[in-house]
Amino acid sequence: ADEEAASQGLHIFTGRIIHSKSLTELEIIPQGAIGVLPDGRIAFLSREETNISNLQRKYARLHLDFTSATITHLKPSQFLFPGLIDCHLHAPQWPNLALGMDDTLRDWIEKYTDPMEASYSDTEKARRVYSDAVRTTLRLGSTTVAYNTTMHVEATNILTDCVLAAGQRAIMGKMCVTVGSTSGNWESSTEESLKGSEACIEYVLSKDSEGRLVRPCVQPRGGPYCPPDLMKGLGEQYAKYKRVYVQAHMCETEDDIERTLALHPPHSTYSDIYLANNLLHPRTILAHGIYLQPRDIQNILSAKAGIAHNPNSNTTLRDGHCPVRSLLEAGVKVGLGTDCSAGYMPSIHAAMRDASNVSRHLAMSRGDAKHVLRFEELVYLATMGGAAVLDMQDEIGNFEVGKWFDALVVDVEGVVGVERELWEWDSSRGDAEALVRKWVFCGDDRTVRRVFVGGRVVGGWDVGHVS
Ligand code: GUN
Ligand code: FE
Repeated sequence: ADEEAASQGLHIFTGRIIHSKSLTELEIIPQGAIGVLPDGRIAFLSREETNISNLQRKYARLHLDFTSATITHLKPSQFLFPGLIDCHLHAPQWPNLALGMDDTLRDWIEKYTDPMEASYSDTEKARRVYSDAVRTTLRLGSTTVAYNTTMHVEATNILTDCVLAAGQRAIMGKMCVTVGSTSGNWESSTEESLKGSEACIEYVLSKDSEGRLVRPCVQPRGGPYCPPDLMKGLGEQYAKYKRVYVQAHMCETEDDIERTLALHPPHSTYSDIYLANNLLHPRTILAHGIYLQPRDIQNILSAKAGIAHNPNSNTTLRDGHCPVRSLLEAGVKVGLGTDCSAGYMPSIHAAMRDASNVSRHLAMSRGDAKHVLRFEELVYLATMGGAAVLDMQDEIGNFEVGKWFDALVVDVEGVVGVERELWEWDSSRGDAEALVRKWVFCGDDRTVRRVFVGGRVVGGWDVGHVS
């Protein structure tokens, strides 16, 4: 209740604060404080002071109203962690979580995904499934999600409503597909597909013109599903609307690349198709990027586009190992995605572990330890990396002053391997890095106690589903 009141005034948190500053730097503040403005932005981050009177003196120049502030002292077993960013999730595939793990990409889409997605002409179903997907991802700590949808305008707008009602940040648009699908999961013409895409962009803009929570995208499913005229039309929509995103799949399997190139002569490189159609930009989110050619990497780099790495889905569908180390070395932006339901777990907390495992399997198969992702890199990918892929690195991803307070209150009490001596502040064994490592690898969803987006409590284990 105290945190609901906080939306009216300054909210100060004191305790352990952990966030990523860069790929190589995980910052651990054993006892610090964060001040959150009524509008949800971070006013200050104190790295040593936790005493409220001292904070008031220290930040006098900010003219904050300390007298009416809400104060939350985190318990010794708790810490603040930045909100998790899911760069790729298919909301309509939600009912298929953990089902259909017997096939590889093409057969899986045909058997499970196309029939499921085609069913979203049923708007009641959309309301039921989407509200559960949004509330559950929030509870699991995903404060921002880039959603993939279906061809249905009404259902897509319902997802926008659900996201806004629940208070999640999202990238949202209508999936565009006119060829290459089965079970009737396609639109009958390029014209219809484009018209629907534009309607969904307009809907998002009508609900949130500033893009405070929800931002629109064009969503060409991928090369095999969008013929040249559809790609061209979506590139024109990008040009027409300011600040529109692009979400698409790219280079997930070799078969996927073959089908793409067959549909798009004269191109011989996947990314050239997006580039030629005005779809490669700093706000372009490309799912997978497992089989990129050097030319693809060049195109992605010069456009400042980003890759959503989906380790759970790549493993389940046996797509292959995304060479994350090589992408990072090249300077490509990389974030994490769950890619549900090809990925069975809609949690970026779990995706950090999956990314670690996939990187180790890649290191084994290539006989080169350089591919192993280090702990601080996993945290970066789940937070700051995702923020960069969504071109929101100045708005979210860590606790820098001026960013939105998108945060998790994590509680490690009861986590496997965590002894009280590890977290007690007056204990000589107190070790915050050990705590956060144990949380990432051994903690489950019950540890994510409260989830904040823009300073508002929107979910977490303690509050269940909030809307
Ligand atoms: N490529 C095109 N559509 C999809 C999808 O829904 N899931 C995955 N994993 N890959 C795709
Ligand atoms: Fe996907």
